[in-house]
Amino acid sequence: MELTRRGFIAGAGASIAGCASYKRETLSMATSHDPNLIAFLSDIHLLGNAARWKDGPDQSSVVLPQLVSEILALRPLPAHAVVFGDFSASCGWEEDFRLAAASLKPLSDAGIALSCAMGNHDNRACFLRAFPEYRQRLLLPERIVSKVSTPNADLVLLDTLKSRPGREWAEPTNEGNFVEGTIDAAQRKWLAETLAAATRPTFVGAHHPAREPGIVKEVVNAPAAFGYIFGHNHVVAEGFLHDGYSNTRTVQTATLPSGGFWGDIGYALFRTFEDRAELTFRQTDFYFNRLWQDRPRPKNWRERVRMHDGRMVTFWYDKPGNFYGS
Ligand SMILES: [Fe+2]
Repeated sequence: MELTRRGFIAGAGASIAGCASYKRETLSMATSHDPNLIAFLSDIHLLGNAARWKDGPDQSSVVLPQLVSEILALRPLPAHAVVFGDFSASCGWEEDFRLAAASLKPLSDAGIALSCAMGNHDNRACFLRAFPEYRQRLLLPERIVSKVSTPNADLVLLDTLKSRPGREWAEPTNEGNFVEGTIDAAQRKWLAETLAAATRPTFVGAHHPAREPGIVKEVVNAPAAFGYIFGHNHVVAEGFLHDGYSNTRTVQTATLPSGGFWGDIGYALFRTFEDRAELTFRQTDFYFNRLWQDRPRPKNWRERVRMHDGRMVTFWYDKPGNFYGS
């Protein structure tokens, strides 16, 4: 795994503690954690029982602990971490979530609050059995919807998992879920009301791109919505949402890398300020292959890492349509 840190730490405004005698437990939360800093992980795709998928992705169990270690080496620590869905390698088996809970526990042990969204490879019932404390975080009774607040902004996390009909809370099967994302009527109503009532800069996060659950118009036209962040594609990217070519309320988007399986591999750091938020990508590898762990990466793979590692996307709290009125 390439672990160049070009520009990443400086861009994220954090620093690595190099002192071996450093004692985290002696620091108070006020000084050890940055309340405006959130670590973003997505598509960690863990396989908790290798017998379920003989040739399945086992690299994620290698990569994720490395990414978690990097996050834990940040000073100050982020106050929050978010997993943008696809905890499971494939079908949402409970042991995948159990492995995720164990793999992410070092973050919680370090006082980093974990928040989650559901992806198309997940299962709501199995998620809540592995993360039982998350039940208290749910803002809707039937979906894994929650909110993360920093001193400067809010991030609402949607549940875009599209289950087979009538199987929203059923146990996983080998058939899995639909790949595409959706939200039900209750969640759509909740999102519209939440965005309409927002008095602080608000970001919307989900596993799927906004067009799949059909919420582009809602996010673009909400005066307080300034960004949409998602995973699913395993491809680092930035872009924007718009609602027609004459609409001036564009919304910046960012697509997160995978936390361990296929495509762009890494995580991101999200820092909120009074007038903007900055998302800095950390890319450590491309298409990590366990068999190649100690071999040089192909040129194209190294180039993708070089292009993305340390790249920053800025989300200004500024929507021309808010004051131009169109
Ligand atoms: Fe995925």
